[in-house]
Amino acid sequence: MSRGADVVIAGAGIAGAACAYELAKRGASVVLLDYGKAGMQATNAAAGMLAPLTETQARGPMLDFGVEALRAYPALVDELQAAVGFDLELRLNGVLKVAFDEALADALRRRCAWQRELGFDLRWLNDAECRELEPRLSEHAICGVFSPEEGNISNQRLALALVRAAVARGATIHERAGVRGFARTRGRIVAVKTADATYACEAVIIAAGARSGQLAARLGVRLPVRPVRGQMLALGGMRAPVRHIVWGPDGYLVPRANGLVFAGSTVEDVGFRRRTTRAGERRLRAAASRLVPQLAAATVHFAWAGLRPGTPDDLPAIGRLPGYENAYAATGHYRNGILLGPLSGRLVAEAMTSGDWSAIPAAFGPARFGTH
Ligand code: GLY
Repeated sequence: MSRGADVVIAGAGIAGAACAYELAKRGASVVLLDYGKAGMQATNAAAGMLAPLTETQARGPMLDFGVEALRAYPALVDELQAAVGFDLELRLNGVLKVAFDEALADALRRRCAWQRELGFDLRWLNDAECRELEPRLSEHAICGVFSPEEGNISNQRLALALVRAAVARGATIHERAGVRGFARTRGRIVAVKTADATYACEAVIIAAGARSGQLAARLGVRLPVRPVRGQMLALGGMRAPVRHIVWGPDGYLVPRANGLVFAGSTVEDVGFRRRTTRAGERRLRAAASRLVPQLAAATVHFAWAGLRPGTPDDLPAIGRLPGYENAYAATGHYRNGILLGPLSGRLVAEAMTSGDWSAIPAAFGPARFGTH
């Protein structure tokens, strides 16, 4: 079967769905393809954290982009909630990052100082102040930094909303429709092929998370996105063990609007293996109870794992693919897909519409990986 669209997007996770929504909003006809179910890969596996100050190690484009993404969230959520009619559970009530020893306290102090120099509102807390904020926090936490602007969202609801809002604007989605190949003439892609259909197109976006590199390879483009497994636990059976996101040296706790606490996460280089392991569960349980000792008795409601799309420099790959005038990437968001995906989608859509890519940091350009 042969069909057509202005833009075909490979991957219906958060980045692909955001591209679809933003392009459809700008009047493009869009086909969104996913080899499985929309939003069920890394997007579903995340904890929904929106925490660029907590996650980023240094000044630079990643921090700037992350903060811009965080600040764009409230308006996007209002817009999506109005479109779909359900709550996306955006909670920007802060992150507490704690230290258990002097070495970590020093590192936390240094980070707090340079981030404050940049103008961010971060509060240094002594042990008593940490426990005032989080009464169940371990007695072994000696100090912490509270970052009031950050928080979390239901990543599942967000992904669903983006897809629904894109479809409401005319986008078409096909699930269980993995991209098998491309038809090209010189430096242009003219069609995208799945097992069942060929989609003629004016442009293509690769937003296939950890599998993006495999798709780019079919175009002869080097896009070294690798899978980095993260295992998670959903803990329950206890009223409000934490009020905010709490981040420690070996893991984090994310209180979700549904009353569960998500405990994350492992960082594992195990290829495309997506299953959870006993060792991973044990590590997460230990990290969670180190932060809040009562969590040792919490019920594990479920455990799951996902594959983060990592790149060699931990920066996303956003922009035109080298050698093609109409193929783009919106991928490689690694530990920050939920935070960055919506902004990447908007900026890619704006750039594809205007031809001006200057709003996306040059450091994110896929051409930085060179050729094979
Ligand atoms: N952003 C948290 C993680 O990737 O584990």
